[in-house]
Amino acid sequence: MDERTERINHAARYLKSCIGPELPTIGIVLGSGLGNLAEEIEEPVVIPYRDVPEFPMSTAVGHKGNFIYGKLGGKKIIAMQGRLHFYEGYPMELVTLGIRVMKLLGIEFLFVSNAAGGTNIEYHVGDLVIIKDHINMMPNPLIGPNLADFGPRFPDMTCAYDLELQELAEKLGIQMGINLKKGVYFGSTGPTYETPAEIRFFREVGADLVGMSTIPEVIVARHCGIRVFGMSVVTNEANSRNVPKNLNDGDDVVKQAGIAATRMSELFRRMIEAL
Ligand code: HPA
Repeated sequence: MDERTERINHAARYLKSCIGPELPTIGIVLGSGLGNLAEEIEEPVVIPYRDVPEFPMSTAVGHKGNFIYGKLGGKKIIAMQGRLHFYEGYPMELVTLGIRVMKLLGIEFLFVSNAAGGTNIEYHVGDLVIIKDHINMMPNPLIGPNLADFGPRFPDMTCAYDLELQELAEKLGIQMGINLKKGVYFGSTGPTYETPAEIRFFREVGADLVGMSTIPEVIVARHCGIRVFGMSVVTNEANSRNVPKNLNDGDDVVKQAGIAATRMSELFRRMIEAL
């Protein structure tokens, strides 16, 4: 067996031993400052990453580093409270390990969330944005020998973000009275925030949001046939002018995400209930 597959199996076996026979059908990745959705999970089983074989710790600010298994919207789910980023120095295999592990647990749907800068001038701090597509400027996590047990060599990415899930979110967003935006996420490695010139470039090529995560997870999820819903919380309006008062700040990003997290959690709960 491929050594990578052995590592994925090793971690999945441990998680299965912690959660018993009723396996989750839905996985959730909680981004910077968004970890408090975890408080809504009923009958939670918390499994710290440090206890999971093969799993590294998340070092990023606002990221806790736990799997949480339990019930949300009446369904068995597993959430990753905190993710691993490429900018932390982990290879893409580790950045995406959790997704493949959740696949082996049986998830059919993945909800990914992140804090992002709004490059679209109509986006404001606190906006919730349905990710409808992405532009990947990070290394592709599928580079290397293909893990054929998981999926094909050349996965299609035409509908990376599931259209039915987007429609469901829009419908529920209206019911909840929240004004959901819909945009294209531009993924860069970080850890620097963007220069104003880069922001202007991203706008030109059609990006509404910019961030340092999510895309590797989405690519790996699509490779193995998981249906994906992605949501960004706009934590800062990306600055396209070289003005000192508009500096970006990681702590502020986490704070703003925390404020919007309650609405996002409720939307996720209602979507999961409707699946
Ligand atoms: N740029 C990149 N990543 C981010 C930003 C940003 O402005 N805000 C939150 N994550």
